[in-house]
Formats: sequence, C-alpha cells, structure tokens
Amino acid sequence: MHIRITKRVIVFLIAALVIPLALTACGVTNNGPWGSNSILDPYGPVAQTTSNLWWIIFAIATVIEALVLVLVVSALVRFKRRANDADPIQITGNTRLEITWTVAPAAILAVLLVLTLNTMITTSEPAGTTMKVTAAGHLWWWEFDYQGIGVVTGNELHIPVGENVHFDLQSDNVLHAFWVPNLSGKRQVIPGHNNTLWFRADRPGTFRGECSEFCGAEHANMNFIVIAEPRAQFDTWVKGQQQNATSMMPQDANANQQMLIQQGSQTILKQACIGCHIINGLPGYNVGKVGPNLTHVGSRKYLAAGTLPNTPENLARWLRNPQEVKPGNKMPNLNLSEDTINQLVAYLETLK
Ligand code: CUA
Repeated sequence: MHIRITKRVIVFLIAALVIPLALTACGVTNNGPWGSNSILDPYGPVAQTTSNLWWIIFAIATVIEALVLVLVVSALVRFKRRANDADPIQITGNTRLEITWTVAPAAILAVLLVLTLNTMITTSEPAGTTMKVTAAGHLWWWEFDYQGIGVVTGNELHIPVGENVHFDLQSDNVLHAFWVPNLSGKRQVIPGHNNTLWFRADRPGTFRGECSEFCGAEHANMNFIVIAEPRAQFDTWVKGQQQNATSMMPQDANANQQMLIQQGSQTILKQACIGCHIINGLPGYNVGKVGPNLTHVGSRKYLAAGTLPNTPENLARWLRNPQEVKPGNKMPNLNLSEDTINQLVAYLETLK
C-alpha cells in the first residue's frame, strides 16, 4: 500500500500532535470561585512529588511521540512511490529491529517503575500525625468528622497550613474516590474497608476536592472545598464549630428579618428536617445522619456538595424542591409553603 503525501496528510499529522495538547485543558492558574484545582499547581509535598513524576513522564512521552512522528513522516516522504517505481523488495522479519523495539520500551518502563516506586515511598505517611479526620462518602456528599475534637462538617474541610493531616476514608454505601488535586493523589473510598490518605498544605489556599469514581446519578455533584489557613485562624474556626447551634442575628437585620429569623427558629422544630439532619443543641435534632450536619450551615461556602453557592436565594431554591437542583439526591420535595421556606432560610443562614 502506498500513501500519497498530500497537504491533507501533513495537516492531519500536525493536528494529531497539537489537538490532544489543547484538549487536555490543563490549567495551572488559581481561578474561579472554587480556587485552584490542578495537579500542576501543587500546594504540598504529596502533590509536589506526584507532579514532579508527572513532568518526568510527560517529558519522556513527548520525546517518544516526537521521535515516532519524525520516523513516520520521513518514511512517508522517503519511500513515497514515484513514477515508474516497480514493486518494492518484499522482506519478512528483521531480528535486530525486533530486539530493539522490545528491549527499548522495556527499559523505559523499568525506569518509570523505579521512579513510581520511589514516589510511592517518598509520599507514604510520616509517623506521628496527630490531626485525624474521618472522611465519609455519602450519596452524594462528604462528611468530615475531626476525630477527638467534636467537629463535624459537610462538604467543607478546613486544615491548618504546614501540618500533616491523616484521613480515614469510609463509605457505608458504594465506592467513591477522594481527591484534592492540589494536595494529594486519588484514593478509593471502599465500603467495609478503611482506606487512609494523608497530605499537607504548605501554603494557604482554597482548593476543590471531588469524588473521582463514578458512584451514581449525582457523582458529578459530589464535591467539597478545602480551606488551608494559618493555625490561629484554624483554631478560631474550630472553636466556632464546637459551639452548639447559635443563631447570630445579622448586624443589618431589619425588624421584618428579625421576625422571620425568630419564626424560623420555631418552625424548624416542627419540620421533617429532624429525620435526616443533626443540629447540635436543638431539641430532637440529634439522630439524623442521612444529610449533612446543619449546626453551622450558614458558615459554609456551598450548598449540596458544591452544587450551589450558599446564598439565601439558593437555599430557598433548594428547599423549594431539592430534586430540581440535584435530581436523585436523598432529600425529597417537602412541598413547603413559601412562608415556611422564607422563615427556614432566614434562620438557617444565621447558623454561622
Ligand atoms: Cu461519589 Cu462519585
């Protein structure tokens, strides 16, 4: 078979090289409300070591691809059929060539294996990590339980800069995977098997974490936010989270708002929320574990595992019909009246 070198073939070869690079859509900039979420923008030692390995593999792969393309193009040009050419000499097999293309890739893969094993050893968890968090994957949100200090959050993780954090990854439903691209590699969250992971942020920042294993209808909306902050700021956050639900009247609340908040604090005691959510300090609100702990829901940046920014309008939209926002999630449409929604929103947003 002969391939004619036309302009079309050359354009195709260039496109084959350039388009995949453009489609990777790898960004290293810290942008958007989520902050950064790129493995190429590491903020801690685990992510740094992993991304160093990635760059080495990328460099080797680039050299190989360039070499292959040059060989293909030069073969096409050099052995192009010319006018009056007879059929080429037919050959079968070339032992030297076959040994070369078996040994060379094996050697390259061996080098990558050694580098990978070395990265795995370098990034294994150091002894003596005191800060431990149980990260539980639910359908479809994350629960973070800070072991021993009585802090439980939903879809929002705060960590102190410069300190190692250990995670126990748990699921009582299906497989998930825990991933914060800027800080760590991915790790599976397996029902009935306690997997662990650790990382450290060496600089403050806000990062996106996500479920990276398909786990059902709302897999794509199973995200969380990680806020790495200086120790003092983290301690202040912890102190706040340890308090029972205390409704903080906004400074600029007018008489109408104050009344709504007051009504909301009563309304919530009669609502079905009690079956699925915990609100520390509220009578009866101590058993629900289906949905996130709402004790400090007003302090969180997002609602419904990163689906919506936490604003009164979005909270109202969620309460009006959670299935419209996130179809398939565990919270049914409670057919709440607009009055009830307004009261609940006013109250819940004050739980800082
Ligand atoms: Cu949980 Cu995907």
